[in-house]
Amino acid sequence: MAAGKRSEYTRTEGSEVKLLHYIFDQPKIHEIRGHPDKVLDLIEDFGNEYWFANVGRPKGEIVTKLIEEIRPRKMIELGGYVGYSAILFGDAVRRNGGERYISLELNPEFAAVANMLIELAGLRDFVHTIVGRSDESLKQLYASGEVEHVELLFIDHYKPAYTTDVQLCEELGMISLGSVLAADNVLFPGNPPYLRYVRSTVKEKRQVAKSYRAAKAFNTEGFSDRTISKYLGADSSPAFEVIGNPNIVYQSAPVQPAGDPDAIEVTRCVGIEAS
Ligand SMILES: C[S@@+](CC[C@H](N)C(=O)[O-])C[C@H]1O[C@@H](n2cnc3c(N)ncnc32)[C@H](O)[C@@H]1O
Repeated sequence: MAAGKRSEYTRTEGSEVKLLHYIFDQPKIHEIRGHPDKVLDLIEDFGNEYWFANVGRPKGEIVTKLIEEIRPRKMIELGGYVGYSAILFGDAVRRNGGERYISLELNPEFAAVANMLIELAGLRDFVHTIVGRSDESLKQLYASGEVEHVELLFIDHYKPAYTTDVQLCEELGMISLGSVLAADNVLFPGNPPYLRYVRSTVKEKRQVAKSYRAAKAFNTEGFSDRTISKYLGADSSPAFEVIGNPNIVYQSAPVQPAGDPDAIEVTRCVGIEAS
């Protein structure tokens, strides 16, 4: 989410559909078709009127640089909303020789809006939107053989699910040497359980895993009630009981654009210790 401009509370019901009208009513729509940058500009213009939860260009650039470095064949994002990040990063993955960008989105209405904008941007054959909960979609992607391991994962959905979804990927064996996680909103609104997890040593994680009682619950420590009740909701729980793989060694640090109150946590798998 682009922080600092407008408060979350000004988000207007139905603004996602209004965005479609705003874009498709453009008098020179034919000049926009097939140009990802122009579609992104229009989403940003409209965001000056209505608050939109898009990653935005400054934080987006951090992830784009990772795409240029890693050149992923397939990249997954958790939380697609109206398609801003899917268009920005999908275009970058395509330019860097990739094969597919996979956007996982819970809300079918948001996914429908995203698909129209992805098509307008000329990325319909490249960006694949999957509607549903991220944990179930991740498991399905792995089970079907569509994605065997995480090259680059952009995390920007239900805040308490950041940790459990990464742990699910670990348990499935999808995190391997070189896997990179880029997590949005780690300073605003913040994600203390996730930062603690990816910054823990193997020893610390083994300690926690030893005393762990397989409870199927999200860790909501440090989140506001509003964050907990958003999207999946306060009564929600992970679809699977996960502990993760404590033997994975991460190097993790925030990358914050100048003047931005928020940061992307960039986490690299640099090893896996023998258990
Ligand atoms: C902050 S928005 C994503 C913004 C988008 N990444 C961008 O930068 O353009 C969060 C999105 O995550 C979706 N979401 C929330 N929980 C989810 C879950 N468990 N699985 C999949 N999507 C989820 C929401 O419906 C919402 O559209």
